[in-house]
Amino acid sequence: MPKIPVKLVSWDEIVEWSRGLAKRVEESGYTPDAIVAVARGGYVPARLLCDFLDVTDLLSVQSQHWVEAAKAQEKAVLKYPYKVDMRGKRLLLVDDIVDTGETLLLARDFIRDNWEPDEVRVAVLQWISTVAKFRPDYYYIEVRDWTWFQYPWTRLEDTQQFIQRILREDPRLQDKKEVEADLLVQVFREWYGISPEDLGWYWEEAIRRLEKKGVLRVKS
Ligand code: ADE
Repeated sequence: MPKIPVKLVSWDEIVEWSRGLAKRVEESGYTPDAIVAVARGGYVPARLLCDFLDVTDLLSVQSQHWVEAAKAQEKAVLKYPYKVDMRGKRLLLVDDIVDTGETLLLARDFIRDNWEPDEVRVAVLQWISTVAKFRPDYYYIEVRDWTWFQYPWTRLEDTQQFIQRILREDPRLQDKKEVEADLLVQVFREWYGISPEDLGWYWEEAIRRLEKKGVLRVKS
């Protein structure tokens, strides 16, 4: 078993899941006047939902995790807490996933209290029901076994972070100025249960970026 189970999500799956999610919203009879994407993960699903639900108004809020000084715990905050008048409107708040759900709850409550819409409902592609603090109004997939979903819009960023994590935490790679390419691949597979081949050009590009930042040097 990998330490961190990862599933690579394809663009085709994103379209299929967003279509399925749109159907659930439509079948419920809810007709949003505007869609609000939670940045950054909600952007692509939100844009697809606009298309699939015939919605032209799309805006966004950015919800983020911050590590509080002197505290190990992370706290969710809204990066740009602007106000708009949404009185008389029905909103659909869209994100990729409800994991703990903290960032999304924060965004929903902020919008409710400050934008004053008639109603705001939450729609996500995936809901990790075993860890989430709340159940979204709409979801397409219920996940029970916690997994890191590698969405196609964050492949390069995630791959760099995956590599940085094993450089920090795996005793075979810690504090090495140079790492053997084969060892890096082996440790990566063990940790994440996916192979560099599955990542295609993203793997080479992630390494190139990390080398450029001076984070590592790979010898083949
Ligand atoms: N963002 C927060 N939790 C996530 C997960 N489990 N997979 C992908 N993106 C996430």
